[in-house]
Amino acid sequence: MDQASKLREMVKTSNNVSNSRVIAVTSGKGGVGKTSISVNLAIELSERGKKVVIFDADFGLANVEVMLGIRPKYNLLDLIHNDKSIEEIITTGPKGIGFISGGSGVSELAALDNESIKILISGLAKLDKMYDVVIIDTGAGITDAVMEFVMVSPEVLLVVTPEPTSITDAYSLLKVLRRNEKFNPIYKTIRVISNRVEDDAEGHEIFEKINTVSSKFLNTKLEYLGSIIQDKNASRAIIEQKPVVMAYPTTSSSKCISVLADKLTNLSDDDIAQGDNDGIARIFFEFIKARRRKKQK
Ligand SMILES: Nc1ncnc2c1ncn2[C@@H]1O[C@H](COP(=O)(O)OP(=O)(O)OP(=O)(O)O)[C@@H](O)[C@H]1O
Ligand SMILES: [Mg+2]
Repeated sequence: MDQASKLREMVKTSNNVSNSRVIAVTSGKGGVGKTSISVNLAIELSERGKKVVIFDADFGLANVEVMLGIRPKYNLLDLIHNDKSIEEIITTGPKGIGFISGGSGVSELAALDNESIKILISGLAKLDKMYDVVIIDTGAGITDAVMEFVMVSPEVLLVVTPEPTSITDAYSLLKVLRRNEKFNPIYKTIRVISNRVEDDAEGHEIFEKINTVSSKFLNTKLEYLGSIIQDKNASRAIIEQKPVVMAYPTTSSSKCISVLADKLTNLSDDDIAQGDNDGIARIFFEFIKARRRKKQK
């Protein structure tokens, strides 16, 4: 058996059924609201009875913890290097949401030996059974690591703002995605969130712009999840290190996030993309494989 088949076997045995939805939150341009959306959506979904965990894949900056004002004791790599269990590396945030810090792990993940990958994957496979939703907060920009997470997640939330560069960068991200030989639109749903808009009409307009170009030139159809109003309480909450939906539940942006959470929970099973490689363990497996390929090049 070659190395890849051995790894594939490991994933198969550790992850028979995937129960959780895996949603990657991404953007072309940085600083458009991915982390705020990940955290606040997680809280809203949790209020709707879903068990949610955020995986902070913004390696290095550890954004989610800053936004929640909570310092995690461990990160993903403690699973491998320090014998910690998956339960131990999950930090509990407000409303019972969990989050896992990726640590500074990207390059290290590519260098792991099979034994370590096995520990990692069987730990992550447990997440599928513990949580209903796994939100992956990707880092800034169209880097390889970000693209790999977007590639392997069945559901993608693409965050854009009215800034022209945010729209063109979102389009660039879609182009990179489309060019990837493994991209299969059947197994992926990309939903756009227009953030920092004046009203929903503006949000819609932004979506139409991206969707028109995307359908025409990239043969990739997008869906519109909705918009979030530009709101000074959103930035205020970040400074206070509290999720806006908790600190200012009735402010305009909180109401918008609540609507988005309703839309996400009310999707029928048919609307939820079932990737052929869904499940968080499989996603990491694909991620590590892709990193290894890159390294070998
Ligand atoms: N709806 C909103 N209204 C006003 N300000 C907002 C809104 N959403 C986000 N912001 C502001 O945008 C800033 C960036 O948000 P956030 O850190 O969530 O973006 P990000 O996409 O995760 O950034 P990075 O790419 O660096 O990870 C926040 O500090 C906040 O002040
Ligand atoms: Mg962020």
